Amino acid sequence: MKTFASRLLLWFDTDGRHDLPWQHPRTPYRVWLSEIMLQQTQVQTVIPYYTRFLDALPTLPDLAAAESDHVLALWAGLGYYARARNLHRAAQVCVAEHGGDLPREFEKLAALPGIGRSTAGAILAQAHGDRYAILDGNVKRTLARFHGIAGYPGSGPVEKQMWALAESHLPPDRMADYTQAIMDFGATLCTRHDPACVLCPLQDDCVARIEGRVEQLPEAKPG
Ligand code: ADE
Repeated sequence: MKTFASRLLLWFDTDGRHDLPWQHPRTPYRVWLSEIMLQQTQVQTVIPYYTRFLDALPTLPDLAAAESDHVLALWAGLGYYARARNLHRAAQVCVAEHGGDLPREFEKLAALPGIGRSTAGAILAQAHGDRYAILDGNVKRTLARFHGIAGYPGSGPVEKQMWALAESHLPPDRMADYTQAIMDFGATLCTRHDPACVLCPLQDDCVARIEGRVEQLPEAKPG
C-alpha cells in the first residue's frame, strides 16, 4: 500500500505550490520569516509583505540591527504585532548567542521568541530536510479526518495523539517538499468546508470519508 506521505508527495508534485517566494531559495532565515508571517495570515496576503520585508532586511543580522520602528513599519498591515517584536528579539538572540544564524538544534530553535514546536519543525524540515513534524490547524484537520479522531484538537490528550500520528507519517526523504505538501493539502484540498474529497489521494483510507463524518471533523472547541 502506498503510504500517507508518498501519496501526499505525488499530489504535491502535480497540485501543490512550487513557486512560493520562500521556496527559492529555502534558507533558514527566509523560511523562518515566512513561517512567522504565515502563523495567522494566509499565503496570498503574506507574499507582498514578505518580499518587501526581505528587500529591506535581507539577512538575519540586518534584522537584528534594525530599529524596532523599522521592523514594525514593515509589518504594518499584517496584524498580530507580537509576531514582529518576537521576530526582532529572536534575531538579536541569534546574533548574541548563535553566531548570527538560527540554531540548527531543535531545542534551541524552539526556545526562541515566537518559535514553538511546530514552527521549529517547519523551519528545520524546509531549510535542512530534517525529519521533524509540524502540527498547525491544517495538519490537525487532515489528521483528524484521515484517522477519524474525535475530540477538540486543541485539547492536551488529542493534541498529543496528533503529534504522534504526525511523526509516524514522516517520509524517509523529501522532508522539505512533504512539509509544504501537507500544509498545501490542508489549505487547498482538505478544507474546513466543502473539501475536495473526490480529488483526494487519501480518500480510500480516510476514516472520516468512509464513515461519512468529513464535515463533523475536526470537532469544535467544547463549551
Ligand atoms: N502556513 C504555514 N507555513 C506555510 C507554508 N510554508 N505554506 C503555506 N502555508 C503555510
